[in-house]
Amino acid sequence: MSDLIKLCKAQDVAPGQSLQVDAEGLPALAVYNLEGEYYVSNNMCTHGMAWMTDGYVEGDEVECPFHGGRFNIRTGEPTAFPCVVPLQTYPVTVVDGDVCIQRP
Ligand code: FES
Repeated sequence: MSDLIKLCKAQDVAPGQSLQVDAEGLPALAVYNLEGEYYVSNNMCTHGMAWMTDGYVEGDEVECPFHGGRFNIRTGEPTAFPCVVPLQTYPVTVVDGDVCIQRP
């Protein structure tokens, strides 16, 4: 289990919300809570210098605050122009109330 990285407490991210977290050696990350399921992806938009956690979560998509591009939170795939490059996502495990990812 030592290759798991703890990012935050599950209770720190309310349903439909996101939280920026930092993990050593990784780019800034965004943790999402979709009705009790947690998802993690890189927080920087692939189109520009915007934090996705400053955007809006709608259903299972997140909208960038800069130009309205969108990504699927579960897969990282872009769903609205001008975003065309996927966000990197990370497999998530919740261990003892902590949201964790596998060290890539
Ligand atoms: Fe995110 Fe342009 S910076 S859509």
